[in-house]
Amino acid sequence: MEKKELLYEGKAKRIYATDDENLYIAEFKDDLTAFDAQKKGSEAGKGALNCQISSLLFELLEENGIPTHYVKRLNENEMLIKRAEMIPIEVVVRNIATGSLTRRLGIPDGKVLPFSLVEFYYKNDELHDPIINDEHALILDLARSESELEELKRLGREINVILKSFFDKRELNLVDFKVEFGRDKDGNIILGDEISPDSCKFWDKKTGEKLDKDVFRQDLGNVKVAYEEVLRRILK
Ligand code: TMP
Repeated sequence: MEKKELLYEGKAKRIYATDDENLYIAEFKDDLTAFDAQKKGSEAGKGALNCQISSLLFELLEENGIPTHYVKRLNENEMLIKRAEMIPIEVVVRNIATGSLTRRLGIPDGKVLPFSLVEFYYKNDELHDPIINDEHALILDLARSESELEELKRLGREINVILKSFFDKRELNLVDFKVEFGRDKDGNIILGDEISPDSCKFWDKKTGEKLDKDVFRQDLGNVKVAYEEVLRRILK
């Protein structure tokens, strides 16, 4: 597989073309950003950890019937993925209230939600990724139909069921996570982007310790140590 030109650079990944028009390479960066990139940092080895964690979680989801863009891990920090037309919606699924949910609605931090909550955010840096409802998504042409939005919600909930039970067994609470989807060459919705401690919140079940990007956001300790612990639990 030949790596060709850089197609896109985001805050945590670079996407490259390959000699196969239907395959891209995702390269995971060591950079960390928070609060709309107002806070910036870097942690050597973070990209490799996220690449490995994401690969293992994509494999888990594929085994459980979730279609993803994942093909295989190529090396420490590169993954071969299927080309997809990304849908600019961040699908957030929450099991426990924290972060922007508690700030926006005054729900106490740490409250277990009576059911898993699915939210849509418009992926747009200039607008600071605002929360949107289904009608906004249709008016903005982010999705093609109400049924496509329903599919995003269904997949978000299914991913939650799989990941929540997987991490439960590893003494981690999956507090919430963010996923992004795309349309493959046949128009099918597939899971894209990454699933890692950059895009999920994990709390240790016994101690409540945070093992995700909040370690960086809130200066709680060493990011790499936290991400290594997540990988160690996944490999258990
Ligand atoms: P929030 O409470 O800040 O809205 O975050 C909810 C979840 O979404 C959390 O697991 C982190 C993830 N997330 C991202 O991956 N990217 C983002 O830009 C934001 C705001 C949240």
